Amino acid sequence: MKNVLLFFAFIGFFSVIKAEELKSPNGNFNLKFEVNNGVPIYQLDYKGKPVVLDSKLGFILKDTADLTDGFTIIKTENSSFDETWEPTWGEESEIRNNYNELAVTLNQDKEDRQLLIRFRLFDDGLGFRYEFPNQNNLIYFVIEEEVTEFAMAGDHKAWWIPGDNDTQEYNYTTSKLSEISSKLEVSITPNESQSPIGGACVQSALMMKSDDGLYINLHEAALIEYACMHLDLDETNMTFTTMLAPDVNGNKGYMQAPRTTPWRTIIVGEEAGDILLSRMTYNLNEPLALEDDSWVKPVKYIGVWWEMITGMSTWSMADVPSVQLGVTDFENAKPTGKHAANTEHVKMYIDFASEHGFDAVLVEGWNVGWEDWFGKSKDYVFDFVTPYPDFDVEGLRDYAKSKGVELMMHHETSGSVRNYERHLDQAFKFMNDNNYNSVKTGYVGDIIPRGESHYGQWMVNHYQYVLEKAADYKIMINAHEAVRPTGIARTYPNLIGNESARGTEYEAFGGNTPDHTTILPFTRLIGGPMDYTPGIFVTDVSQLNPENGSYVRTTIARQLALYVTMYSPLQMAADLPQHYEQFMDAFQFIKDVPVDWSKSLVLEAEPGDYITYARKDKNSENWFVGRTNDEEPRTSKIAFDFLTPGKKYVATIYSDKKDAHFKDNPQAYQIKKYVVTNKSKLSQFCAPGGGYAISIEEVTNSSQTKGLRKL
Ligand code: NOJ
Ligand code: CA
Repeated sequence: MKNVLLFFAFIGFFSVIKAEELKSPNGNFNLKFEVNNGVPIYQLDYKGKPVVLDSKLGFILKDTADLTDGFTIIKTENSSFDETWEPTWGEESEIRNNYNELAVTLNQDKEDRQLLIRFRLFDDGLGFRYEFPNQNNLIYFVIEEEVTEFAMAGDHKAWWIPGDNDTQEYNYTTSKLSEISSKLEVSITPNESQSPIGGACVQSALMMKSDDGLYINLHEAALIEYACMHLDLDETNMTFTTMLAPDVNGNKGYMQAPRTTPWRTIIVGEEAGDILLSRMTYNLNEPLALEDDSWVKPVKYIGVWWEMITGMSTWSMADVPSVQLGVTDFENAKPTGKHAANTEHVKMYIDFASEHGFDAVLVEGWNVGWEDWFGKSKDYVFDFVTPYPDFDVEGLRDYAKSKGVELMMHHETSGSVRNYERHLDQAFKFMNDNNYNSVKTGYVGDIIPRGESHYGQWMVNHYQYVLEKAADYKIMINAHEAVRPTGIARTYPNLIGNESARGTEYEAFGGNTPDHTTILPFTRLIGGPMDYTPGIFVTDVSQLNPENGSYVRTTIARQLALYVTMYSPLQMAADLPQHYEQFMDAFQFIKDVPVDWSKSLVLEAEPGDYITYARKDKNSENWFVGRTNDEEPRTSKIAFDFLTPGKKYVATIYSDKKDAHFKDNPQAYQIKKYVVTNKSKLSQFCAPGGGYAISIEEVTNSSQTKGLRKL
């Protein structure tokens, strides 16, 4: 027996397979890395259970040998890190960044080329990236594909949208991994902007749940100078391989050493809420790059927007079939008669914002160019400084200032990206001169002139260029149709919003599934906030435009909850002022809810079913609770034990009435007030497509509790 053991020890010692191991700070995760027959392989366990089985790492390169095999380990370095940092804005005022690191340098002996793989193991999962050090035999090169694998340990349940190099604006499908390709074929009816890659290719962040209840999330962090990553599944063995968004020639990345790739992230938790509370994606990004971030401020805004989205008004001032290059003759143009961005109408929005305490008013359709969106002159029309004749830039600047309200700029590029880059300095200077401190950018349509994909390296570089240039002008960015965020806002917090998913606008284009907002926080929101634009109270779109039969799949109570469940430092109240005037008691919640928090807790959560958050205001002792519910009627049960012991609060609960329903009875809500303490408990009905919102105000004066029952 002793000899047999000795024999195995001997084999182990001289074997070519040398495994490196790394544990998370709490010891729950174990990472194994080895080079097996020259191929780099990693594996991840959580409490002894496999999360990622043996998975290969590497790259296919163009016109040179691939970086997939022939490697040996030449150096390994271990280190640990623990810091607490304060985000400019966020779900909490402090974030802990604590991990153990393993950095392995590999040599590809035949080619004499080096590749470093850096692993960071946190208590909430693993991040790893590739680094191409400075060297003689790998200086500049073209990536044909990154071939990083994620071999899943089972046929998990997944919440996914199809891989697509130009849009994330899809409803989610829930299925087993093995069902992705068949469901992708039948369930997706592409609209004109959607072109699914097909097969079993999906986008990240991808949310999964194993049969034994482990929640697993795959995404990326710090996507800079590199193409966005899709995940291509081999359904025979549940192994994902990275698939990068290509450029116009089909190449995936133009690289020059020394360079690093984005981090690949695997967040894991025993509870769904662990995924929502993970800050790994931000932690893997670089610290603040701005010398001064005091001008970056969370924003609650209204806007001249929903009326155009529903078709009630127009962005364009005139119906001009085509214009000569850059020349628009409005004298002879046929006015649409429905141009919303006119001075008087915008003043009405400014008045409403000022009266109800909003920070800003967004105005879309203020500038010349919309009348020729699909025209030949597209590349010349938007210059981002020429207003329509009925929009008085200076008059509105002064009016907004006198009312204490900011105006929010809108730059729709119509996909003409070089045109935008050419005008960028002048456009940002125009904003500085006219008192605009934030801009919503947009990239609708094909990227011209070369036909780049929205998520390829070239466009990723563009979004970053705009973000950094905006910082030079102290301008905040809310980019629509751009690549989905990957935590870059830690470094550049002037990225206060992104769309990059199917937002409320689709409720006017046929609808979002009722469970959409119970999935987004597990997927799209992992990398950063979304400009979802909640707050629609009149959900029947035909009331705005009789020719539009769509409706918003929600109750009013749920629209309120979204201000808490869809975390963002940028929140819109998207409905029209006259609609809010019909429901002033419910509107009070939107007025009260903060957009910056000191603490966030997940009280209940299951992707696709429901999410209940409690959050503490960054600037007061007040708490807010929000619950979004899928299409099933459910009862939510929460305890108020997060409140400070010994203190009293008044809770105002905005909830669905018993007969509320997202389709037939969306406006049936009730508002109740109670005295609560940290001993209180609530059992609350949630209607199909419903939910509830609670504002919890600290009692500082006994008159606040007069006549109120204790909960
Ligand atoms: C699509 C954006 O998501 C929407 O918010 C905007 O109004 C239109 N593009 C026009 O730019
Ligand atoms: Ca959009």
